[in-house]
Amino acid sequence: MCGIVGYTGIKNAKDIIINGLKTLEYRGYDSSGIAFVNEGKIEVYREVGRINALEQLVKDVQPAHIGMGHTRWATHGKPAKENSHPHTSTNRLITLVHNGVIENYLEIKNELLKKGYTFSSETDTEVVANLLEDEYKKTKDMKQAIINMMKRVHGSYALGILCADSSDTLYCAKNKTPMLAGVGEGFNMIGSDAMAMIKETNKFIEINDLEFLVVSDKNIEIYDQDGNAIKRDSFTSNVNANDISLGTYDHYMLKEINEQPTVIRTLLKEYLDNGKTKIDSQILSEIKNADRLYIVASGTSMHAGYVGKYLIEELASIPVEVHIGSEFGYHLPLISKKPLFIFITQSGETADSRVALQLVKKHGYKSLTITNVAGSTLSREADYTLLLHAGPEIAVASTKAYVAQVTLLALIANELASNKLDLNLELSKVATSIEDIISRKDQIRKIVTDRIVYSRNAFYIGRNLDYYVALEAALKLKEISYIQTEGFASGELKHGTIALIEDETPVLAIISQKHIALNTRSAIQEVRAREAMTTIISMEHVANDDDNFIVSDTHELLAPLAMVVVTQLIAYYAALAKGYDIDKPRNLAKSVTVE
Ligand code: AGP
Repeated sequence: MCGIVGYTGIKNAKDIIINGLKTLEYRGYDSSGIAFVNEGKIEVYREVGRINALEQLVKDVQPAHIGMGHTRWATHGKPAKENSHPHTSTNRLITLVHNGVIENYLEIKNELLKKGYTFSSETDTEVVANLLEDEYKKTKDMKQAIINMMKRVHGSYALGILCADSSDTLYCAKNKTPMLAGVGEGFNMIGSDAMAMIKETNKFIEINDLEFLVVSDKNIEIYDQDGNAIKRDSFTSNVNANDISLGTYDHYMLKEINEQPTVIRTLLKEYLDNGKTKIDSQILSEIKNADRLYIVASGTSMHAGYVGKYLIEELASIPVEVHIGSEFGYHLPLISKKPLFIFITQSGETADSRVALQLVKKHGYKSLTITNVAGSTLSREADYTLLLHAGPEIAVASTKAYVAQVTLLALIANELASNKLDLNLELSKVATSIEDIISRKDQIRKIVTDRIVYSRNAFYIGRNLDYYVALEAALKLKEISYIQTEGFASGELKHGTIALIEDETPVLAIISQKHIALNTRSAIQEVRAREAMTTIISMEHVANDDDNFIVSDTHELLAPLAMVVVTQLIAYYAALAKGYDIDKPRNLAKSVTVE
């Protein structure tokens, strides 16, 4: 979480950093701050709230040519000015911004307190600032001070650092938290992701864990933690600055929901050729040779994994297990003889999934990352990558990435099943069905205002594939409308949870699968008998005339792709009606880069 961007060069650092922070706001947005060097002096500005507040604060600051900014997602200490970054060391020699968690900060803090260092925040970051100052005072050499600091500190960090004695240089250190260098003519940058720098450059240099950089306007030097210089070529990113603009939409979430038919069609072009799957043959043979697939993911990506499991098992009869990233990383279940591990992650940066990947690698197993971000950490660290080609997803609530993940898993499942389905045709039907749902979004908005928005809690129910959609639907509704929502297997309600059904409790049923449609309708009767406010979202071939929203038919196995869109729009309109910040819901961040 947290976003960092730094700049040194000919232009006004302030504008570039503020713009960069705005694109990074998705990583955390409870407070922000910026440091500039002006006439050799480091000035620090911090503000609670969104980047706009910081922008106001620094509007009259004179132009500077070097600086760094930070947008925060609080880990240690509440969102308050004193906990915002940048943090400055006791004698103001070091100023730094940090993304990550320093595990042994208390131990280091106690040592530094004894030496007379002072602390004005509750953060782990301020400890690193003082530790660096202590090391710098001993060595009078910033490189050596960083080396010593990296050997002392345990945990995850991307650090942007300024030293008062070398104020024309930006330093940066990285371990287990994303950070990239941006390469320009007459300037250089550091940033948490390419999007933060894309308006200035499309040339980047990767930074590996336990490396640090010395960045001036002309040079980027890379070192390992022993101080050995490393040579690494830059790469050109195909991220386009226009992909991250809002266009005519009010919110990124709505824009991204609307992009879903295009995402499906793009994936068809990328991965299908005349009905044949165009997936790297090595990857295909790894998947085909596996006796069991293990999908590891978090949140929405995990929900896509459940649908993938269903499709692969149903179409290709290959067993698939789905695991929560944060659980899997610390307990390996019994593993089959020839496993393949599939990490599904929109961002490619989720720390929980990364810990799991490291465990898998430690045991020598092969891994495939399915991600939307080329060059992301999980992509680099797995043996293979398949890209989602969904374009940047900015809204914290994931929508088009889910649709891309399920589409790609469907393509894989079908290839494993020797192309039983004509996916060109069937996925095109899905794209059309989604377009039809979007064209009727006012109907969904009315359902929300009439039946959902004023409730404190709600339930989504469904069975089999519909249950997996219910899980994702519930996550979407709760994360942006703050209505406490649970997704339930409809048959499971009566085993306890039905006790929560009261007069007018919204229960939304997903019905798209013929063989269990009547079972879910029975569950609806049960909750109706307890005065629940039921809403039925069904697919044409299993619909009753009086269902509340009917989705045009797709192949049943692909129904989640269309059904989920209704629930995305329900969440969107619920948050809109409540006047919440749809793209940046409270307490959340887009990339969850801390465990
Ligand atoms: C859902 O809307 C969330 N943004 C969240 O659950 C997300 O899917 C999860 O944090 C995993 O992220 P990833 O796909 O980038 O790994």
